Amino acid sequence: MLRTIRLEDFESLKAIWKKAGLNLYPHEEEKARFVAMYQLNPDLMTILEVDGKVIGCMLGAFDGRTASVHRLAVLPEYQKMGYGTMLVEDLEKKLKDRGIRKISLQVHAANQQVIEYYKKKGYKDLDYAVSFYKDL
Ligand SMILES: CC(C)(COP(=O)(O)OP(=O)(O)OC[C@H]1O[C@@H](n2cnc3c(N)ncnc32)[C@H](O)[C@@H]1OP(=O)(O)O)[C@@H](O)C(=O)NCCC(=O)NCCS
Repeated sequence: MLRTIRLEDFESLKAIWKKAGLNLYPHEEEKARFVAMYQLNPDLMTILEVDGKVIGCMLGAFDGRTASVHRLAVLPEYQKMGYGTMLVEDLEKKLKDRGIRKISLQVHAANQQVIEYYKKKGYKDLDYAVSFYKDL
């Protein structure tokens, strides 16, 4: 069952992200980012439960210009059963229903398996832009 995330889901989500191998910020920073996203986009942040257990999640976001995917993860023992696709398609539908026509995401360059996954889902390499960052 898909449902909208609640603030109190944070600890369960963090456990999933860890088990799925995502790189996490220190606890307080991870939580602050989660709360900030929640204040902007609660309806785009989705949890997947199977038999009452939280097994996956998608933090979708829209900042007024760009829609993006963050922290998509499914517990390893539930992967390759179509749950990831369910989460991706749910977000895509919500965005389309709002008239948003483009979604973007960033994947670690070493995460080849997930890169292939997104390509199969129709996502294209952004070959005309370069990502920059600066630590503040
Ligand atoms: C990316 C991720 C969320 C995908 O979740 P998932 O639930 O395994 O995704 P799906 O089951 O929809 O698809 C995965 C594969 O299973 C296959 N599959 C889907 N339904 C299936 C079924 N019923 N039986 C067998 N295989 C199936 C899909 O075709 C796909 O195969 P492919 O990789 O060869 O294309 C998951 O791998 C994950 O949590 N990864 C670690 C975290 C991560 O890196 N997230 C991305 C950060 S942006």
